[in-house]
Amino acid sequence: MQTSSKSTNRLCRLFQLEYPIIQAGMAGGTTTPALVAAVSEAGGLGTLGAGYMSPEAIRQAIRDIRELTARPFAVNLFILQEPERAPGEAQQRAQADSAWHLLAPLRERLNVREDGPPAVWSESYRDQLAVLLDERVPVFSSTFDAPGTDTLAECTRLGIRTIGTATTVREALLLQQAGVDAIVAQGAEAGGHRGTFPGEGEPPLIGTMALVPQIADSVQVPVIASGGIMDGRGIAAALALGAEGVQFGTAFLTCTESGAHPAHKAAVLGSSDESTMLSRAVSGKYARGIRSRLLEELEPLAGQLPGYPAQNALTQEIRRAAAKAGNPDYMAMWAGQASPLALKTTAAELIARLIGEADQVLSRLQRFT
Ligand SMILES: Cc1cc2nc3c(=O)[nH]c(=O)nc-3n(C[C@H](O)[C@H](O)[C@H](O)COP(=O)(O)O)c2cc1C
Repeated sequence: MQTSSKSTNRLCRLFQLEYPIIQAGMAGGTTTPALVAAVSEAGGLGTLGAGYMSPEAIRQAIRDIRELTARPFAVNLFILQEPERAPGEAQQRAQADSAWHLLAPLRERLNVREDGPPAVWSESYRDQLAVLLDERVPVFSSTFDAPGTDTLAECTRLGIRTIGTATTVREALLLQQAGVDAIVAQGAEAGGHRGTFPGEGEPPLIGTMALVPQIADSVQVPVIASGGIMDGRGIAAALALGAEGVQFGTAFLTCTESGAHPAHKAAVLGSSDESTMLSRAVSGKYARGIRSRLLEELEPLAGQLPGYPAQNALTQEIRRAAAKAGNPDYMAMWAGQASPLALKTTAAELIARLIGEADQVLSRLQRFT
């Protein structure tokens, strides 16, 4: 598993890494500059999950990361069309209003005072991206859609490497065609939001074991396996399936340097194989998290709720109030299906352990018969 700048591993060469281990961008405060820098310092690729951050906050976080490490790191964004940012049309506004009324019992339970739905639903992807280009971040990683070909050409011109996220072979081919340098194959086990592109209907939910070899057979760029991978066994399996690297989310969420809420970390550490569920009711986009009252109470309303990012904005104050009160019942605690394998450790210790385990498993698995 040990690699170096002379490595034959394409991801290590592409991103100048010691190990093809990527810490997922996890929007919502988990990926502190300390976590990102610790992962990069340990030879992996740390990623700032900047999807919910303002352009100013992103710029500051990039500078904070650069204070802590000179190694490459990534910044991850949600690719959204500008008109999705705010309720532009009367129909959208009416849908958001009625969904907002449906959420009244939850707001009451958590003492949330809100006069009406928020006027803006999300940060501007275009403005966020402008900061990444201006700061010339080493790697731009993205999810929810393919970056535009102009954006990718500009990244190439500036020396910025790129990673896209696919949940199907079709999405992987679109990403390759657009010109990304590497593709995350996100299996259905994954914690957090599905990267499924808009307009695809119900997500196909292809598991990591089935998805990785199919994407690896279909594209020429390096594939990064993601979803339910927590240890060296998972790394060995991903490599066997044709991936050249692994992106871990949940495994880094419980690290000391992670900014995840203590109740979120505790829920992951205390979880079982049956603890997670997929829901589109919290944010309007399918995401996997620890079963909680929030997910279970919202689920029956799913058909009456708007899509992402409107629904995400409508539940934001509820989730915020729950987090402030330390009440995990109404927090969105995104986590993958292998969450019981998470450890309470530092990022550097986790990476050392992953490498050691992967080497052990790989040398044990010499042959099948
Ligand atoms: C708390 C949390 C937040 C996440 N946020 C993002 C995000 O902002 N951007 C992104 O591309 N993926 C995000 N993901 C998904 C990860 O990129 C990755 O696909 C997933 O964590 C892999 O599954 P695992 O959690 O089992 O390792 C998130 C995952 C978690 C657990």
